[in-house]
Amino acid sequence: MALITIPVESLLDRKQPPSEAQAQEWCASLEAGDILFFPQTPIEFAAGDIEFLLGQQQTDSSLHKNIAYKPAIDALSGVDTKTANAASVARLQGIMRFYSHAAVEFLGGFLTPYARRWKLDYASFRPQEEQGRDLALRKRNDLLHTDAFPTRPTHGARILRFFNNIHPTRTRDWVVGEPFPTLVKQFAPKQIPLPSPGNAASRTAKSLARGIGLGAAIPSLKRSPYDDFMMRFHNFLKENDAFQTDCEKHPFQFPSGSSWMVYTDTVPHAVLAGQYALEQTFLVSPQAMVAPQFSPLRVLEAMAGSRLA
Ligand SMILES: [Fe+2]
Repeated sequence: MALITIPVESLLDRKQPPSEAQAQEWCASLEAGDILFFPQTPIEFAAGDIEFLLGQQQTDSSLHKNIAYKPAIDALSGVDTKTANAASVARLQGIMRFYSHAAVEFLGGFLTPYARRWKLDYASFRPQEEQGRDLALRKRNDLLHTDAFPTRPTHGARILRFFNNIHPTRTRDWVVGEPFPTLVKQFAPKQIPLPSPGNAASRTAKSLARGIGLGAAIPSLKRSPYDDFMMRFHNFLKENDAFQTDCEKHPFQFPSGSSWMVYTDTVPHAVLAGQYALEQTFLVSPQAMVAPQFSPLRVLEAMAGSRLA
């Protein structure tokens, strides 16, 4: 795995989309587990927007939490609208709307092989200091893990995330490990059972038996065997002390004002320190992959010998 640095001047000067060969190469690198790094973010924020985001911590306690923006319905969550100042909430929503739109515009022109063959997931604003956060083990960001969403199964779509460190001075400190195709073979099937269509069917049956008509059963009904495994693998990695201690680790410190993008379902990652980040998630169609042999779905299907999504 590698960090591939892309100077913003090379993007802005060009006015034209990157060549097809170049864009294919970037996509293939991402899919294999590299990080594309932009020392200077390609997102052009309006004057005052970053200052507004940085100011929330001091001025409005109801905006402290991780805040999600759902572009499909133009809605914020994680903000206590009962106590937050209405004008602040409206401005925050406007900034998140802009950020999400700008990230989509940028990636659409940059990763042309994907040509918007993605489902746009949430954007987030992360105003909290990551170092020393008091979170339940499975929610901790400082333990290496690959991403899986408990309530939003992807059915094999890849989780591509675009990040911005908007802290005025500090780095955002990550550690990353060996990508999924290497990692999963260390543990499956010996320490963690491989997925099989049968596994998921029995889980679905259990959910049905537990409560037909209950909302709580719906997410597991929608989960494919692939999603089920990815969720278990996320938990397995965070709960595995030996892995956390002994695994190969590559530290990266993303500077103030930089952006980076990475497939977080493939690259195990942990955030050790940093404050104030923005992020937009894309669920990229499996059919859009330029190097499908690296996708967790393909790797797992080859190991399990059956279709999993
Ligand atoms: Fe993560």
